[in-house]
Amino acid sequence: MPDKLRAAKPTVPATFFGETVTHVHHWTEHLFSFRCTRDATFRFRAGEFTMIGLMVEGKPLVRAYSVVSAPWQEELEFLSIKVQNGPLTSRLQHIKPSDTVLIGRKPVGTLALDNLAPAENLYLIATGTGIAPFLSLIREPETYDRFQRVILCHTVRQVAELAYRDFITNELPADEQLGELIAGKLIYHPSVTREAFPTQARITTQIEAGTLGKALGLPPLDPARDRVMICGSEALNADMKALLEIRGFTEGANNRPASYVIEKAFVTK
Ligand code: A2P
Repeated sequence: MPDKLRAAKPTVPATFFGETVTHVHHWTEHLFSFRCTRDATFRFRAGEFTMIGLMVEGKPLVRAYSVVSAPWQEELEFLSIKVQNGPLTSRLQHIKPSDTVLIGRKPVGTLALDNLAPAENLYLIATGTGIAPFLSLIREPETYDRFQRVILCHTVRQVAELAYRDFITNELPADEQLGELIAGKLIYHPSVTREAFPTQARITTQIEAGTLGKALGLPPLDPARDRVMICGSEALNADMKALLEIRGFTEGANNRPASYVIEKAFVTK
C-alpha cells in the first residue's frame, strides 16, 4: 500500500470497529444515508442502535444511530440528518466511499421484538429519521413470524423526506426472499404535514380522529390485539405515549415485554 493511503487510515479506539464506507446517498439537503462494511463479529438485533461517528482531532466524535440494515445483511446502513453547524453531522455528511467510520461494538435498544408480548398487529410509528430502526425490523423475518400484520407509519414535513419510500413500495415486494414473506402483511402508511399529500396530517391526529383506522381498514388501537413501537422526536414520543396509555397500553423494556416500546430518534445535531 502506498504510504499516502496508509497514513489516511485513522487509529481506531478499542471500543469501536473502524469500517469502510461503501455507498452514500443524499435524499435531500438535510437527509442522507450511507452503507459501510460490517465486522464479522458485530451482532445486533433488528431495531437496535449503536454509537457511530468519526475520529476528529485524534478523538472519537460519536452519536447514537439506529441500524437501518437487517441483522442478516452483509453491510451496515445508517440514516442521518445534516446540520450545518452540528459537531458530527456537519462532518459526517461529507463522507465518501473508502473513508473510515467508527462503529460502536455494543449495540443496544428497546425497539426489539422480544420487548413486546405476542399479539396480532404491530404498528411502527416514526417521524423523520425515526424510521431507521423500522427499516431493519421490516426486513427481519421474525417480525412476520410474530405478527400477522406490520403497519409502518412514517410522518414527515415534506414529501422528499419520505426516505426509503421507493424501497418499501417497489423494491421490497419484488425481493426474492422477502417479497413473499411481506406480501399481505406489510402495510406502508406515509403521511406528510406541510405539503399536499394524500394523507396530510400528523399520525397522532389520524389516530385520534379515527382516520388511520379508516385508511387501513382496521379497528382502533387496542392493547388486546395491537402492539406499537414508537421512534421520533421527543414531542412525538410524549404525545404517542399519552395517547397509548389512555387506551390501556403499557410500556415494555428489555426483560419486561408489554404492549408498546419507545425510543428517541437520536441525532439532532
Ligand atoms: P408538523 O409539521 O405538524 O410539526 P420534526 O421535523 O419537527 O421532527 O417533524 C417531523 C414530523 O413529525 C412532522 O410531520 C411533524 O408535524 C411531526 N410531528 C412533530 N411533532 C409531533 C407531535 N408531537 N405529534 C405528532 N407528530 C409530530
